[in-house]
Amino acid sequence: MEQREQWQADGHRAYPLVRVRQLVKNYYLGHTVVPALRGVDLDVWPGELVALMGPSGSGKSTFMNLLGCLDQPTAGRYLLNGVPVDELSPNELADVRNRSIGFVFQNFNLLPWMSALENVELPLTYMQMPAEERRRRAEIALTLVGLRTRALHRPTEMSGGQQQRVAIARALVTSPTLLLADEPTGNLDSQTSIQIMGILQELNRRGLTIILVTHEADIASYCRRQVRFRDGRVVGDTLNPEPLQARLQLTHDHNQEQEGRKVTS
Ligand SMILES: Nc1ncnc2c1ncn2[C@@H]1O[C@H](COP(=O)(O)OP(=O)(O)O)[C@@H](O)[C@H]1O
Ligand SMILES: [Mg+2]
Repeated sequence: MEQREQWQADGHRAYPLVRVRQLVKNYYLGHTVVPALRGVDLDVWPGELVALMGPSGSGKSTFMNLLGCLDQPTAGRYLLNGVPVDELSPNELADVRNRSIGFVFQNFNLLPWMSALENVELPLTYMQMPAEERRRRAEIALTLVGLRTRALHRPTEMSGGQQQRVAIARALVTSPTLLLADEPTGNLDSQTSIQIMGILQELNRRGLTIILVTHEADIASYCRRQVRFRDGRVVGDTLNPEPLQARLQLTHDHNQEQEGRKVTS
């Protein structure tokens, strides 16, 4: 029996964006086998916002790399939007990756000598697209993360939170169907982390499917679904009926700050 079948309003069964079955990944170090994933089954439905949790070494990043078509599984099935990506050649895989998937990393991975705008344009330079169109799309992506006015700044002139917003814009510029974020708030203070979660929640409201890795329960509580890994397996999969809303949280903190000012002044 398939887990969590979903039905559309017109009575047709919806298809998962991600379906993995018995996914296995071994790393080989000399004669040693490191079993990073030991048979993962998971469906992710269009429009979901999923937090992957679990201790360090439990296989979260390995799983994200497979989902992102950065690496191939040792065994098992992976259907992305119904396409069996585990059967694709490296070239076809790169194509799927570039067209369908956006990545955000803990360390932002921006090129320091390029402006925010140039960083965001970068994924488009690999597609044949006129420079004007590239610029237009990069500006839209920067506007979505609230950094339109910082387009010409370099990463070195930006805070960590701003750099991560540029990285999110870069991930969005190709209009991916799936956004993968591996510990996107891992290097940010808690207030900035909530801002980043606010942006991800807003993108999710607009229909983007997002899977993010976090080991912080606070961050996971902004996600509707929480999947827990341990020792290369899924050991928990729960729905959070009332995810925190970063937008409200930020307004609330802002108001408290204002209150504090009133009292102290
Ligand atoms: N490139 C690699 N080569 C060998 N072992 C690896 C490699 N990447 C990860 N591992 C091992 O696989 C396991 C899962 O790692 P990882 O997916 O990075 O976990 P997590 O992201 O949950 O911390 C760990 O035991 C780790 O040491
Ligand atoms: Mg990791």
